[in-house]
Amino acid sequence: MAKKSDSGHASPNATRRGARTSYRKKAPPPENGHASNGLRSAPASSSAFVLREDGTIEANEDAQAGDHKYPDGRFEMIFADPPYFLSNGGITCHAGRMVKVDKGDWDKSRGPELNHEFNMEWLRRCQRVLKPNGSIWVSGTHHVIFSIGYAMQQLSFKILNDIAWEKPNPPPNLSCRYFTHSTETILWAAKNEKSRHTFNYQIMREANRGKQMKTVWEMAAPRNGEKAFGKHPTQKPVALVERCLLASTNEGDLVLDPFLGNGTTAVACASLSRRCVGVELESNYVEIAAKRVEAVFREPSDLFALPAPR
Ligand SMILES: C[S@@+](CC[C@H](N)C(=O)[O-])C[C@H]1O[C@@H](n2cnc3c(N)ncnc32)[C@H](O)[C@@H]1O
Repeated sequence: MAKKSDSGHASPNATRRGARTSYRKKAPPPENGHASNGLRSAPASSSAFVLREDGTIEANEDAQAGDHKYPDGRFEMIFADPPYFLSNGGITCHAGRMVKVDKGDWDKSRGPELNHEFNMEWLRRCQRVLKPNGSIWVSGTHHVIFSIGYAMQQLSFKILNDIAWEKPNPPPNLSCRYFTHSTETILWAAKNEKSRHTFNYQIMREANRGKQMKTVWEMAAPRNGEKAFGKHPTQKPVALVERCLLASTNEGDLVLDPFLGNGTTAVACASLSRRCVGVELESNYVEIAAKRVEAVFREPSDLFALPAPR
């Protein structure tokens, strides 16, 4: 099983020539270009694509070579947990205390237009590297998910489902001026209208005690054990990604995560015998991801077993 992090052609680090704002960020390369324990960490390449002023994309020679090598894309599935753009001075409740929402610079909003431009850009790249029958899952809250859905429509993805991930123990709403936020949306879309996407209907039905699985999934936030090698402010539960993998891929399939974070997708892939390529800005997260994946190979037990669906 491959277990690597690779900047590949799907890096969402766009270079905007002469534009006001660039989403290109420096990816701090690890000292020897390799993270420990087999996960390869490469600086994200920004040279393969150039977003022109008029919004069109220019592919340079590297990208064209890539197109030629993989004209039908590379990945059976993509799981993307992008910036939600919600670190803008708001407050939330963490461990019973009022704290500022600050997940990192990467999570700051640059305004609706630039946020949407960013979403269009990385989704366009993801669509290009999906196989014709491949599908993509994208998580988000209201801060980002409408832009994602609109971008998917603009790019002619075929939206298959919108999943409501319901958290049984959400943090309370401190202002008492809103309902308690307790869901995130996960959009599932096929590459385009022609795609014959994989849906493992029977596996999902069996996981749901013989009944068709619905689009509301109740799942707890990551358990403490999932953060044993280091914390990430927006880490997803392994069980959530596992369910997406089981629904839409088969053993041996190649999966991309363009916002790898602590490597939840890589961990889920390792435990379900899928192969994974990840892209991540922060090398410390790649290192945590590497340790987590190694732990799965050391203990391929039921550490990350699927919880009983509701
Ligand atoms: C929402 S988190 C993903 C968390 C991940 N799903 C997990 O369970 O650990 C988004 C990640 O994307 C990374 N990121 C943000 N902008 C990026 C970019 N332009 N290219 C690559 N990675 C980026 C951030 O460093 C962050 O770790």
